Amino acid sequence: MKYTLNLSKQLKTVIHINEDIILNDNHYIYITDQNLYGLYKDSFLQDKEVICLPPGEESKSFDSYLTIVSYLIEHHVSKDCCLVGFGGGVILDLVSFVASTYKRGIGLILIPTSSLAMVDASIGGKNGLNYNNLKNVIGSIYLPKDIYINLDFLKTLPNDEFISGLGEILKIGLLFDEEIFSLFYQNKYLENLDKIIIKAIKYKIDVVKKDPFETGYRRCLNFGHTFGHAFERLYGLKHGYSVMIGMLIISKNKPYYQSLKKIVNSFDVSFNQSIDIDQVLNLIENDKKFTKEGLIIVDVESVGHFSFKTITKQDIKQYLEDFINE
Ligand SMILES: NC(=O)c1ccc[n+]([C@@H]2O[C@H](COP(=O)([O-])OP(=O)(O)OC[C@H]3O[C@@H](n4cnc5c(N)ncnc54)[C@H](O)[C@@H]3O)[C@@H](O)[C@H]2O)c1
Repeated sequence: MKYTLNLSKQLKTVIHINEDIILNDNHYIYITDQNLYGLYKDSFLQDKEVICLPPGEESKSFDSYLTIVSYLIEHHVSKDCCLVGFGGGVILDLVSFVASTYKRGIGLILIPTSSLAMVDASIGGKNGLNYNNLKNVIGSIYLPKDIYINLDFLKTLPNDEFISGLGEILKIGLLFDEEIFSLFYQNKYLENLDKIIIKAIKYKIDVVKKDPFETGYRRCLNFGHTFGHAFERLYGLKHGYSVMIGMLIISKNKPYYQSLKKIVNSFDVSFNQSIDIDQVLNLIENDKKFTKEGLIIVDVESVGHFSFKTITKQDIKQYLEDFINE
């Protein structure tokens, strides 16, 4: 099964789903994290040239960037080499940024291994490093030549990471696809995992094609993310869990609210810390989507139908109070 993400004649990615990974005519350097190296060194990574970094968000740093670039320089790696990012979103964002800048751009292949990376981080060409406590503040848009998505890698993914990725698939369902939403609602998402992952990838490809450089429409993918990011930063929740909470907060009066709540509760997104409204407001006010007029959010009126809307600081406060007092 193949899809093409084609942004222009020059910018094209072939996405291979559950296909064998065939790399044969180049110098490939694999970059991964220690968790994946431990799991796959005797199988998938055997006999490969591998650079291994510590797992976790801290690796999306200049230090890791320089570790990889120094290796490439020391080993006289030429421009026809291809970097292969094998891992979750952290590794893919880091490796993609290295590939986009080393010798002004070298070959890149992505092999996402987490549910979040399969449906989201690997698709669309965005990459990023964190700096000075700012997430993704340095980055570029650079498409890989190929993306290989193989659902077998999910068998070793820890359950909380797996559920975090489901948060992004649920978001895609709310934005575009009643069937995805109803498979979650009926608790049939596991037996339909291939289907919902493939659908989520196709929707993301469509969005990226419509707005490759994120000038407007692509921001629909931020549904639930403004509140979500604040919760992620303040309360240390995983990204997809925070997005689920963010979507709940802004869907309070929508017809699908009770169904969404049932789905989110089934994932045990346990959240028992007391919410400090002022702290959340403060973070949201510093969000780049907050303008003089207020905050631009994605409003899903009913499943599969959304629009953009601007809300005021008072509205944000109200959303939070409603959420806390329920
Ligand atoms: N570029 C984009 O468009 C985009 C989109 C969404 C998210 N992101 C970025 O993605 C990152 C989050 O990605 P993530 O959720 O994949 O986190 P992650 O890369 O930190 O991976 C989560 C954990 O799961 C482990 N892991 C991954 N795959 C595994 C597997 N198959 N088996 C066992 N363990 C495995 C990793 O070692 C890590 O400990 C964030 O930095 C976020 O900014 C980027």
